[in-house]
Amino acid sequence: MLTPIHIPVLVDRVLEALAVQPGGRYIDCTLGSGGHALAILERISPGGKLLGIDADPKAIAAAEQRLEDYRDSTLLINENFVNLAAICYKYDFLPVQGILFDLGLSSLQLDDAGRGFSFQHEAPLDMRLNPDQQLTAAEIVNTYPEVQLAHLIKIYGEERQYRQVARHIVRERPLKTSLELARLIERVVGGRKGKLHPATKTFQALRIAVNQELEHLESALRQAVNILGSRGRLVVISYHSLDDRIVKQFMQREAKNCICPPDLPSCVCGHTASLKLINKKVITPSRAEVQTNPRSRSARLRVAERLSAQDEHYRIIERLGFSTEIREHGNGWKKPASLEKIRQVFAAA
Ligand SMILES: C[S@@+](CC[C@H](N)C(=O)[O-])C[C@H]1O[C@@H](n2cnc3c(N)ncnc32)[C@H](O)[C@@H]1O
Repeated sequence: MLTPIHIPVLVDRVLEALAVQPGGRYIDCTLGSGGHALAILERISPGGKLLGIDADPKAIAAAEQRLEDYRDSTLLINENFVNLAAICYKYDFLPVQGILFDLGLSSLQLDDAGRGFSFQHEAPLDMRLNPDQQLTAAEIVNTYPEVQLAHLIKIYGEERQYRQVARHIVRERPLKTSLELARLIERVVGGRKGKLHPATKTFQALRIAVNQELEHLESALRQAVNILGSRGRLVVISYHSLDDRIVKQFMQREAKNCICPPDLPSCVCGHTASLKLINKKVITPSRAEVQTNPRSRSARLRVAERLSAQDEHYRIIERLGFSTEIREHGNGWKKPASLEKIRQVFAAA
């Protein structure tokens, strides 16, 4: 039987990854029904603040109830996280010590029979996180040219039989409901293979396209880095390989001082690292967690830490061969090299 509430995934690992500090300031970009947010609030209170964002107004309403006891410490905003930086500037909520993305859908959305996310319920083909948005899955399914549909199912769904699925959709449209579409895909792709329902991949593709999930994630990750304070943590849980690849590649790129192609004789990109990878290996749920919460089975958690401005200065100094005397014992800083001094060295180089 499906769980009527959303059980937050990898909660202890998330708290550890965020290095949650009492009195700190954190952002949950995917508030859902507030499970992770509640765990963070319990650790940061009293004195801490949490900004919770969700594109789905129903999620905000559910989280408001759940986080009622922490009303004075929370700011809950019904927005898309693609507007993360604008939200933080508007509400003067920066810098922050940690930002969490727990991507995808909550059980509340999957089990909400009217939303069309699930191929197990009869519902209009909707799939919008935010009902104010124009584009729905029905519009994509019933109006996109076959070639565009096929491309979308291939790229966003990684469905091997993308051509056949698209061809049959176009032949049999208009399709009105999620069950109509699921049955059609089952006829084309064949019955259940392993644990995956045959419609899983095409439904994933449609949901990603309707909500522009990949583009929004890329953009939000870039914004998150600029909002994090020194040594702030960026924590992301993904549930499918497309999201996870974006997160992994983003973190790896931002952890490098040069992103030039390897065959260039010297660096021309001028890129400097803004993140340090905390877990080189992806974190996944334990077998016990998967048993109690089967929806956690595909979760993949990645963590990175914002390098401080001082660290950036330090690396420049190191690269240029400056004395490191200014570095304090331990990991603190007395005084970073002045930018003017660094500029002079660059000008002379
Ligand atoms: C897996 S659930 C999060 C569950 C939450 N961590 C909890 O403990 O209840 C993902 C949530 O992210 C929201 N979401 C997905 N993409 C979003 C986006 N681009 N902007 C804002 N919210 C988004 C969904 O509406 C959903 O509520």
